[in-house]
Amino acid sequence: MTSELADSVFLRACRRRSVSHTPVWFMRQAGRSLPEYRALREGVPMLTACATPELVVEVTMQPVRRYGVDAAILFSDIVVPLKAIGVDLDIKPGVGPVVAAPIRDAEAVRTLRPIEPDDVSYVTEAVQGLTKELGATPLIGFAGAPFTLASYLIEGGPSKNHDHTKAMMYGEPELWHALMDRLTEITLGFLRVQLASGASAVQLFDSWVGAVSRDDYREFVLPYTSRIFEGLADLDAPRIHFGVGTGELLGLLGQAGADVVGVDWRVPLDEAASRVGPGKALQGNLDPAILLAPWEVVERRAGEILARAAGTEGHVFNLGHGVLPGTDPDQLARLTDFVHEASAR
Ligand code: CP3
Repeated sequence: MTSELADSVFLRACRRRSVSHTPVWFMRQAGRSLPEYRALREGVPMLTACATPELVVEVTMQPVRRYGVDAAILFSDIVVPLKAIGVDLDIKPGVGPVVAAPIRDAEAVRTLRPIEPDDVSYVTEAVQGLTKELGATPLIGFAGAPFTLASYLIEGGPSKNHDHTKAMMYGEPELWHALMDRLTEITLGFLRVQLASGASAVQLFDSWVGAVSRDDYREFVLPYTSRIFEGLADLDAPRIHFGVGTGELLGLLGQAGADVVGVDWRVPLDEAASRVGPGKALQGNLDPAILLAPWEVVERRAGEILARAAGTEGHVFNLGHGVLPGTDPDQLARLTDFVHEASAR
């Protein structure tokens, strides 16, 4: 890693070091809100795009060029490593990941084998291409966390209440733990491939874990997320941990071992800092829907977030969840500039 990259505002903020201005990137910054993305994806299925390194490089670079954000995030999807080890699944436009044969018994769990670098050579190639092209801008690798992956695998697709998932967790705890154990190995392996190929940081997306209580998180999820962060400790790259609706879980998300905790829009950042506890940077947390309001509203709300973040140990500005497809890219461009300028004052 060059010293310019190591000294980038994003990596410094993740490490709770002083910065000249607050770094900013957006979850789902690449994607349907960008006309240049829609043009490139025309007629190319999502999972084909994810397995085509030149396309991945180009799509990942689009928001970096357009907005001047302080980090790129690899264009991929949380189900890519599952597909790579042979799970029969697809990503349906407007729906999300759909699994042909939902995983609900021990025999199905046993088909989930660990991931090898050769299974995802296209990811290695894309990450290597990107780190060359990005220079001093960090690349964030990512993976879905075991709970969120388990939900897609058990339900067979997106789910509102995660009924089958919870039915297994409560009713067949041994099977649940066996499944989480396998998903932990896959997730850890996939994150290590991305870091070994040149990614500078990783984010673990546990998007749907806000569905469980604190006690259940401690028993059924925490052992696995902890193992993932511990399994990355030797690589010295910042680890970000994010979920939606996790207000009650923030303390436990901090305990799991990440360097940065991502916060959705429901908890103000100063309050989040006291829930997470000392020794962590925070990432967030503008409600993505605010970007659909006039610029004056966005500016005021973003200013409030910077003020709330002033007392935290480190802050990476982001949305509280992904960019909505209907977002005007000009709003994101103005927001990036605003955060840079307002935080530098
Ligand atoms: O943030 C980025 O710019 C990187 C790209 C990224 C994608 N998926 C691309 C994508 C990331 C980080 C993800 C992670 C992901 N995928 C998560 C965790 C993040 C989150 O939002 O909580 C989850 C839950 C998924 C599962 C998934 N994949 C969903 C819910 C969808 C949307 C379905 C739809 O069409 O509305 C996908 C597909 C997907 N992943 C798209 C993109 C750009 C849309 C596909 C398309 O453009 O055709």
